[in-house]
Amino acid sequence: MTATDDAIELEAERLLRSLMHVDCDPHGKTWNLATCRAIAPLTLEINRLKAERDAVILAHSYLEPEIIYGVADFRGDSYFLSMKAREVRAKVILFAGVVFMAETAKILSPEATVIVPDRGSGCSLADSLTGDQLRRLKSLYPDATVVCYINSTADVKAESDVCVTSGNVYHIVEHLPARRILFVPDRLMGDNLRAEMKRRGADKEIITSDGTCMVHDQFSPADIAEARERYPGLKVVAHPECPPAVAAAADFVGSTGAMMKYVKNSGAPYYLMLTECGLVGRLQVESPEKAFIGGCRLCPYMKLNSLEKVRDALKAPRPDQIITLDEGVRRRAAHCIDRMFELSPTD
Ligand code: 13P
Ligand code: SF4
Repeated sequence: MTATDDAIELEAERLLRSLMHVDCDPHGKTWNLATCRAIAPLTLEINRLKAERDAVILAHSYLEPEIIYGVADFRGDSYFLSMKAREVRAKVILFAGVVFMAETAKILSPEATVIVPDRGSGCSLADSLTGDQLRRLKSLYPDATVVCYINSTADVKAESDVCVTSGNVYHIVEHLPARRILFVPDRLMGDNLRAEMKRRGADKEIITSDGTCMVHDQFSPADIAEARERYPGLKVVAHPECPPAVAAAADFVGSTGAMMKYVKNSGAPYYLMLTECGLVGRLQVESPEKAFIGGCRLCPYMKLNSLEKVRDALKAPRPDQIITLDEGVRRRAAHCIDRMFELSPTD
Protein backbone atom coordinates (compact mmCIF):
# COMPACT_ATOMS: atom_id res chain seq x y z
CA MET A 1 0.00 0.00 0.00
CA THR A 2 1.49 3.35 -0.97
CA ALA A 3 0.68 6.50 0.97
CA THR A 4 -1.42 9.18 -0.69
CA ASP A 5 0.04 12.60 -1.48
CA ASP A 6 -2.11 14.09 1.30
CA ALA A 7 -0.82 11.58 3.87
CA ILE A 8 2.77 12.28 2.80
CA GLU A 9 2.24 16.01 3.09
CA LEU A 10 0.74 15.68 6.57
CA GLU A 11 3.59 13.40 7.67
CA ALA A 12 6.20 15.79 6.24
CA GLU A 13 4.64 18.63 8.23
CA ARG A 14 4.65 16.49 11.40
CA LEU A 15 8.32 15.64 10.92
CA LEU A 16 9.25 19.23 10.17
CA ARG A 17 7.80 20.49 13.46
CA SER A 18 10.60 18.59 15.30
CA LEU A 19 13.38 18.34 12.74
CA MET A 20 13.42 22.01 11.67
CA HIS A 21 15.37 22.78 14.85
CA VAL A 22 18.22 20.34 14.14
CA ASP A 23 21.26 21.94 12.59
CA CYS A 24 23.90 19.36 13.54
CA ASP A 25 22.74 16.52 11.31
CA PRO A 26 25.54 13.91 11.02
CA HIS A 27 25.16 13.75 7.25
CA GLY A 28 25.04 17.53 6.82
CA LYS A 29 21.35 17.39 5.86
CA THR A 30 19.29 20.56 6.17
CA TRP A 31 15.88 19.79 7.61
CA ASN A 32 13.26 21.64 5.55
CA LEU A 33 9.92 20.63 4.06
CA ALA A 34 11.60 19.06 1.01
CA THR A 35 13.88 16.78 3.10
CA CYS A 36 10.96 15.85 5.34
CA ARG A 37 8.83 15.07 2.27
CA ALA A 38 11.59 12.78 1.00
CA ILE A 39 11.56 10.61 4.15
CA ALA A 40 7.81 10.81 4.90
CA PRO A 41 6.88 7.69 2.84
CA LEU A 42 9.46 5.69 4.83
CA THR A 43 8.34 6.90 8.27
CA LEU A 44 4.71 6.23 7.30
CA GLU A 45 5.62 2.72 6.16
CA ILE A 46 7.59 2.03 9.38
CA ASN A 47 4.77 3.30 11.58
CA ARG A 48 2.31 1.09 9.66
CA LEU A 49 4.62 -1.94 9.99
CA LYS A 50 4.90 -1.35 13.75
CA ALA A 51 1.13 -1.65 14.11
CA GLU A 52 0.95 -4.73 11.85
CA ARG A 53 3.80 -6.55 13.62
CA ASP A 54 2.88 -5.45 17.18
CA ALA A 55 6.33 -3.84 17.42
CA VAL A 56 7.77 -1.01 19.47
CA ILE A 57 10.88 0.95 18.62
CA LEU A 58 13.25 1.97 21.41
CA ALA A 59 15.80 4.55 20.28
CA HIS A 60 18.87 5.81 22.09
CA SER A 61 19.28 9.60 22.14
CA TYR A 62 22.42 9.40 19.95
CA LEU A 63 20.42 8.21 16.96
CA GLU A 64 19.61 10.27 13.88
CA PRO A 65 16.77 12.72 14.58
CA GLU A 66 14.55 11.23 11.85
CA ILE A 67 14.55 7.92 13.77
CA ILE A 68 14.09 9.53 17.19
CA TYR A 69 11.30 11.89 16.16
CA GLY A 70 9.97 10.02 13.14
CA VAL A 71 9.42 6.46 14.30
CA ALA A 72 10.61 5.81 17.89
CA ASP A 73 8.04 4.99 20.58
CA PHE A 74 10.50 5.60 23.40
CA ARG A 75 13.73 7.63 23.32
CA GLY A 76 16.26 8.14 26.05
CA ASP A 77 19.34 6.86 27.83
CA SER A 78 20.34 3.27 28.59
CA TYR A 79 18.58 3.16 31.95
CA PHE A 80 15.28 4.53 30.68
CA LEU A 81 15.32 2.24 27.65
CA SER A 82 16.11 -0.82 29.80
CA MET A 83 13.09 -0.01 31.96
CA LYS A 84 10.95 0.30 28.84
CA ALA A 85 12.34 -2.96 27.44
CA ARG A 86 11.26 -4.67 30.66
CA GLU A 87 7.79 -3.08 30.72
CA VAL A 88 6.58 -3.24 27.12
CA ARG A 89 4.33 -6.08 26.14
CA ALA A 90 4.95 -6.02 22.37
CA LYS A 91 5.71 -9.10 20.24
CA VAL A 92 8.66 -7.33 18.63
CA ILE A 93 11.14 -4.86 20.10
CA LEU A 94 13.31 -3.08 17.55
CA PHE A 95 16.26 -1.50 19.30
CA ALA A 96 17.65 1.45 17.40
CA GLY A 97 20.95 1.82 19.21
CA VAL A 98 23.81 -0.67 19.49
CA VAL A 99 23.89 -4.43 19.97
CA PHE A 100 24.58 -4.51 23.74
CA MET A 101 21.41 -2.44 24.25
CA ALA A 102 19.36 -4.90 22.18
CA GLU A 103 20.90 -7.79 24.12
CA THR A 104 19.84 -6.06 27.33
CA ALA A 105 16.28 -5.80 25.97
CA LYS A 106 16.32 -9.53 25.14
CA ILE A 107 17.62 -10.34 28.64
CA LEU A 108 14.73 -8.38 30.16
CA SER A 109 11.99 -9.38 27.69
CA PRO A 110 12.86 -12.94 26.65
CA GLU A 111 9.42 -13.60 25.14
CA ALA A 112 9.77 -10.75 22.63
CA THR A 113 11.55 -11.02 19.30
CA VAL A 114 14.29 -8.41 19.68
CA ILE A 115 15.78 -7.05 16.49
CA VAL A 116 18.58 -4.66 15.52
CA PRO A 117 18.80 -2.72 12.28
CA ASP A 118 22.55 -3.44 11.89
CA ARG A 119 24.37 -6.32 13.56
CA GLY A 120 27.67 -4.46 13.13
CA SER A 121 26.60 -1.79 15.63
CA GLY A 122 29.06 -2.72 18.34
CA CYS A 123 30.56 -0.51 21.03
CA SER A 124 34.26 -0.04 21.81
CA LEU A 125 33.49 -0.57 25.49
CA ALA A 126 31.34 -3.68 25.16
CA ASP A 127 33.82 -5.12 22.65
CA SER A 128 36.79 -4.57 25.00
CA LEU A 129 36.04 -7.47 27.37
CA THR A 130 34.78 -11.03 26.90
CA GLY A 131 33.20 -13.30 29.51
CA ASP A 132 36.40 -15.44 29.50
CA GLN A 133 38.59 -12.41 30.13
CA LEU A 134 36.34 -11.34 33.00
CA ARG A 135 36.49 -14.84 34.51
CA ARG A 136 40.30 -14.60 34.48
CA LEU A 137 40.19 -11.13 36.09
CA LYS A 138 37.79 -12.37 38.76
CA SER A 139 40.21 -15.14 39.68
CA LEU A 140 42.81 -12.44 40.51
CA TYR A 141 40.37 -10.60 42.81
CA PRO A 142 38.14 -13.35 44.28
CA ASP A 143 36.90 -11.15 47.15
CA ALA A 144 35.79 -8.24 44.91
CA THR A 145 32.18 -7.41 44.07
CA VAL A 146 31.96 -7.33 40.28
CA VAL A 147 30.14 -4.30 38.90
CA CYS A 148 29.61 -4.10 35.15
CA TYR A 149 28.67 -1.00 33.21
CA ILE A 150 25.64 -1.72 31.03
CA ASN A 151 27.87 -1.15 27.98
CA SER A 152 28.97 -4.78 28.15
CA THR A 153 28.08 -8.10 26.54
CA ALA A 154 25.49 -10.51 27.95
CA ASP A 155 28.39 -12.86 28.85
CA VAL A 156 30.05 -10.15 30.93
CA LYS A 157 26.75 -9.33 32.65
CA ALA A 158 26.28 -13.03 33.41
CA GLU A 159 29.66 -13.00 35.21
CA SER A 160 28.89 -9.84 37.23
CA ASP A 161 27.16 -9.23 40.56
CA VAL A 162 25.43 -6.01 39.63
CA CYS A 163 24.98 -3.90 36.50
CA VAL A 164 25.07 -0.08 36.50
CA THR A 165 24.42 2.71 34.02
CA SER A 166 25.99 6.14 33.75
CA GLY A 167 22.97 7.44 35.69
CA ASN A 168 23.23 5.25 38.78
CA VAL A 169 26.86 4.06 38.97
CA TYR A 170 27.93 6.42 41.78
CA HIS A 171 24.86 5.76 43.92
CA ILE A 172 24.98 1.98 43.53
CA VAL A 173 28.71 1.58 44.16
CA GLU A 174 28.60 3.94 47.16
CA HIS A 175 25.89 1.81 48.78
CA LEU A 176 27.36 -1.66 48.04
CA PRO A 177 28.59 -3.35 51.24
CA ALA A 178 31.89 -4.41 49.63
CA ARG A 179 34.96 -2.20 49.82
CA ARG A 180 36.77 -3.83 46.91
CA ILE A 181 35.02 -3.33 43.56
CA LEU A 182 36.04 -4.83 40.23
CA PHE A 183 34.50 -2.37 37.78
CA VAL A 184 34.35 -3.34 34.08
CA PRO A 185 34.77 -2.53 31.22
CA ASP A 186 35.24 1.28 31.30
CA ARG A 187 38.60 2.36 32.70
CA LEU A 188 37.79 6.09 32.49
CA MET A 189 34.39 5.75 34.15
CA GLY A 190 36.22 3.67 36.78
CA ASP A 191 38.65 6.58 37.32
CA ASN A 192 35.71 8.99 37.64
CA LEU A 193 34.03 6.57 40.04
CA ARG A 194 37.17 6.41 42.21
CA ALA A 195 37.33 10.24 42.36
CA GLU A 196 33.62 10.51 43.18
CA MET A 197 33.81 7.89 45.96
CA LYS A 198 36.69 9.85 47.48
CA ARG A 199 34.69 13.08 47.22
CA ARG A 200 31.74 11.36 48.97
CA GLY A 201 33.99 9.93 51.69
CA ALA A 202 33.16 6.33 50.69
CA ASP A 203 36.04 3.94 51.38
CA LYS A 204 36.21 1.95 48.12
CA GLU A 205 38.99 0.30 46.19
CA ILE A 206 38.11 0.45 42.49
CA ILE A 207 39.89 -1.98 40.16
CA THR A 208 39.16 -1.60 36.44
CA SER A 209 39.69 -3.35 33.14
CA ASP A 210 41.07 -1.39 30.21
CA GLY A 211 38.21 -0.42 27.86
CA THR A 212 37.33 3.11 26.82
CA CYS A 213 34.62 4.72 24.72
CA MET A 214 36.20 5.72 21.42
CA VAL A 215 34.02 8.85 21.32
CA HIS A 216 34.34 10.17 24.86
CA ASP A 217 38.02 9.38 25.37
CA GLN A 218 38.80 11.96 22.66
CA PHE A 219 37.73 14.99 24.69
CA SER A 220 40.45 16.97 26.48
CA PRO A 221 40.61 19.73 29.10
CA ALA A 222 42.07 21.98 26.36
CA ASP A 223 38.69 21.81 24.52
CA ILE A 224 37.06 23.19 27.66
CA ALA A 225 39.62 25.93 28.36
CA GLU A 226 39.42 27.22 24.80
CA ALA A 227 35.61 27.21 24.79
CA ARG A 228 35.35 28.98 28.16
CA GLU A 229 37.62 31.75 26.89
CA ARG A 230 35.51 32.32 23.78
CA TYR A 231 32.07 32.00 25.39
CA PRO A 232 31.72 33.72 28.77
CA GLY A 233 28.94 32.15 30.85
CA LEU A 234 29.38 28.83 29.04
CA LYS A 235 28.25 25.65 30.81
CA VAL A 236 30.28 22.51 30.12
CA VAL A 237 28.28 19.29 30.36
CA ALA A 238 30.14 15.97 30.23
CA HIS A 239 29.41 12.25 30.21
CA PRO A 240 31.18 10.06 32.82
CA GLU A 241 32.84 8.07 30.01
CA CYS A 242 35.10 11.16 29.51
CA PRO A 243 38.63 11.25 30.97
CA PRO A 244 38.78 12.35 34.65
CA ALA A 245 40.53 15.65 33.81
CA VAL A 246 37.59 16.50 31.53
CA ALA A 247 34.99 15.47 34.11
CA ALA A 248 36.79 17.54 36.76
CA ALA A 249 36.73 20.65 34.55
CA ALA A 250 33.03 20.31 33.59
CA ASP A 251 30.12 22.08 35.30
CA PHE A 252 28.00 18.94 35.25
CA VAL A 253 28.71 15.23 34.71
CA GLY A 254 25.94 12.71 34.16
CA SER A 255 24.16 10.25 31.91
CA THR A 256 22.75 11.50 28.61
CA GLY A 257 19.33 11.72 30.29
CA ALA A 258 20.75 13.75 33.19
CA MET A 259 22.72 15.95 30.77
CA MET A 260 19.49 16.81 28.96
CA LYS A 261 17.72 17.58 32.22
CA TYR A 262 20.58 19.81 33.37
CA VAL A 263 20.51 21.87 30.14
CA LYS A 264 16.72 22.17 30.15
CA ASN A 265 16.78 23.52 33.72
CA SER A 266 19.70 25.89 33.22
CA GLY A 267 19.54 29.50 32.10
CA ALA A 268 23.08 29.72 30.69
CA PRO A 269 23.59 31.31 27.26
CA TYR A 270 25.87 28.61 25.78
CA TYR A 271 26.56 24.92 26.28
CA LEU A 272 29.48 22.68 25.34
CA MET A 273 28.18 19.11 25.29
CA LEU A 274 31.03 16.62 25.74
CA THR A 275 29.26 13.60 24.33
CA GLU A 276 28.02 12.16 21.06
CA CYS A 277 26.49 14.73 18.75
CA GLY A 278 23.07 13.07 18.54
CA LEU A 279 22.32 14.42 22.01
CA VAL A 280 22.81 17.98 20.74
CA GLY A 281 20.22 17.21 18.03
CA ARG A 282 17.75 16.13 20.71
CA LEU A 283 18.37 19.27 22.73
CA GLN A 284 18.01 21.48 19.65
CA VAL A 285 14.54 19.97 19.17
CA GLU A 286 13.49 20.04 22.82
CA SER A 287 15.27 23.24 23.97
CA PRO A 288 15.42 25.26 20.74
CA GLU A 289 16.11 28.51 22.59
CA LYS A 290 19.51 27.24 23.84
CA ALA A 291 22.83 27.67 21.95
CA PHE A 292 25.27 24.78 21.60
CA ILE A 293 28.87 25.34 20.63
CA GLY A 294 31.65 22.97 19.63
CA GLY A 295 32.08 20.43 16.87
CA CYS A 296 30.30 17.15 16.36
CA ARG A 297 31.69 13.82 17.54
CA LEU A 298 29.93 10.80 16.14
CA CYS A 299 29.71 7.22 17.35
CA PRO A 300 30.27 5.21 14.16
CA TYR A 301 28.27 2.32 15.61
CA MET A 302 25.18 4.33 16.50
CA LYS A 303 25.34 5.90 13.06
CA LEU A 304 25.01 2.50 11.35
CA ASN A 305 21.26 2.75 11.99
CA SER A 306 19.04 4.22 9.27
CA LEU A 307 15.34 4.44 8.46
CA GLU A 308 15.82 2.01 5.54
CA LYS A 309 17.45 -0.60 7.81
CA VAL A 310 14.70 -0.11 10.43
CA ARG A 311 12.05 -0.67 7.74
CA ASP A 312 13.78 -3.79 6.34
CA ALA A 313 14.30 -5.32 9.79
CA LEU A 314 10.64 -4.80 10.68
CA LYS A 315 9.43 -6.16 7.37
CA ALA A 316 11.45 -9.37 7.31
CA PRO A 317 14.33 -9.57 9.82
CA ARG A 318 17.35 -11.54 8.64
CA PRO A 319 18.72 -14.09 11.16
CA ASP A 320 21.66 -11.79 11.93
CA GLN A 321 19.22 -9.02 12.92
CA ILE A 322 17.50 -11.19 15.55
CA ILE A 323 19.08 -11.32 19.02
CA THR A 324 19.43 -14.81 20.48
CA LEU A 325 21.05 -15.70 23.80
CA ASP A 326 21.93 -18.88 25.60
CA GLU A 327 19.20 -19.27 28.27
CA GLY A 328 21.68 -19.90 31.13
CA VAL A 329 23.63 -16.75 30.23
CA ARG A 330 20.40 -14.77 29.85
CA ARG A 331 19.15 -15.80 33.30
CA ARG A 332 22.37 -14.91 35.05
CA ALA A 333 22.60 -11.61 33.16
CA ALA A 334 18.96 -10.86 34.10
CA HIS A 335 19.85 -11.38 37.77
CA CYS A 336 22.66 -8.81 37.51
CA ILE A 337 20.35 -6.26 35.82
CA ASP A 338 17.52 -6.93 38.31
CA ARG A 339 19.95 -6.07 41.10
CA MET A 340 20.57 -2.75 39.37
CA PHE A 341 16.83 -1.99 39.37
CA GLU A 342 16.65 -2.91 43.08
CA LEU A 343 19.61 -0.70 44.01
CA SER A 344 18.93 2.31 41.76
CA PRO A 345 17.94 5.62 43.33
CA THR A 346 14.18 6.09 43.10
CA ASP A 347 14.01 9.72 41.84
P1 13P B 1 23.75 6.76 28.49
O1 13P B 1 23.18 5.62 29.22
O2 13P B 1 24.18 7.88 29.38
O3 13P B 1 22.81 7.24 27.43
O4 13P B 1 25.09 6.29 27.78
C1 13P B 1 25.10 5.35 26.76
C2 13P B 1 26.32 5.43 25.95
O5 13P B 1 26.61 4.57 25.15
C3 13P B 1 27.18 6.57 26.14
O6 13P B 1 28.22 6.51 25.24
FE1 SF4 C 1 29.90 2.65 22.85
FE2 SF4 C 1 31.00 5.05 22.97
FE3 SF4 C 1 29.37 4.46 20.97
FE4 SF4 C 1 28.40 4.80 23.47
S1 SF4 C 1 29.34 6.34 22.18
S2 SF4 C 1 27.88 3.15 22.03
S3 SF4 C 1 30.09 3.93 24.66
S4 SF4 C 1 31.37 3.50 21.37
